[in-house]
Amino acid sequence: MDHLFLFTLILSVLFAVLVSATLLVFAVRYRRRPKDKPPAPIHGSHVLEIAWMVIPLVLAMGTFVWGAEVYLRLNRPPDDTMVVNVVGKRWMWKLQHPSGRREINELHVPVGTPVRLNMTSEDVIHSFYVPAFRVKADALPGRYTTTWFKATRAGRYHLFCAEYCGTRHSGMIGWVEVMQPEAFQAWLSGGAAEVSLAEAGERLFNDLGCVTCHNPTSGARGPSLDKLYGSTVKLQTGESITADDAYLRESILYPAARVTSGYQPVMPTFRGLVNEEGVLELIEYLKSRGASKEAEPSAAPVSSAPTNGPAREPAP
Ligand code: CUA
Repeated sequence: MDHLFLFTLILSVLFAVLVSATLLVFAVRYRRRPKDKPPAPIHGSHVLEIAWMVIPLVLAMGTFVWGAEVYLRLNRPPDDTMVVNVVGKRWMWKLQHPSGRREINELHVPVGTPVRLNMTSEDVIHSFYVPAFRVKADALPGRYTTTWFKATRAGRYHLFCAEYCGTRHSGMIGWVEVMQPEAFQAWLSGGAAEVSLAEAGERLFNDLGCVTCHNPTSGARGPSLDKLYGSTVKLQTGESITADDAYLRESILYPAARVTSGYQPVMPTFRGLVNEEGVLELIEYLKSRGASKEAEPSAAPVSSAPTNGPAREPAP
């Protein structure tokens, strides 16, 4: 990214200097003097015209291809990433590791391991920005976005919110602590005894009473959730949808938006009863009940699809 940035900077400066210098030199040198007659018109030069079309074309297309390559690399995490859930909230970053370990405004990661951030926001748009990693991605309410990085050197790196989000936006900062793998493992297993994301999700699932309807033996008021994650769901409307993170979130918070074929829209909304972190835990729990491969977010180039219509949340 740095090389690409430097290249475009040099290119811009070069052309700015070239054009303005030529302009000044020509203006002085070929200015109209008192006794001059209007000069004869000059007709085109093919060599010149082809040159000023071809050279910029090559430079612009070269920059485009290079930029596209960097962009794709930035948006396609490798397969074996460590996933961290990130929830932006005015005015803090709440992070949670799959093991259940929670952090606020701090992110501990091992050196040399690709880390994928699964991000959303509890309220307004925030932006997760670690300048040292050249990583900046928005955390949006009502949507999951993703970005990834691989820290190559141990140390402490600044973390910012890079999207103005209100009074204490400037205080929504923190640190990314890159540790040696052994130190990271020690850190991860330290702290209070915590339950994993999936276990926390299961607890929520029972506490919220989801199990009453989503229970294959109870006369099935709701569809079974076994092996749901990543599968294709047939909807009442006749359409089909892949049960990915965005769909599961929508179904928990806006159950009437997409009703599974064969079922009545009787599920109540869990908006207000479960926060974004809870939704992430529930999704993790559903994943633990069996998943098919296709819905792995790494397959999506940018981020999971926006949830339509009703899932768009009003500004608080
Ligand atoms: Cu969050 Cu600015």
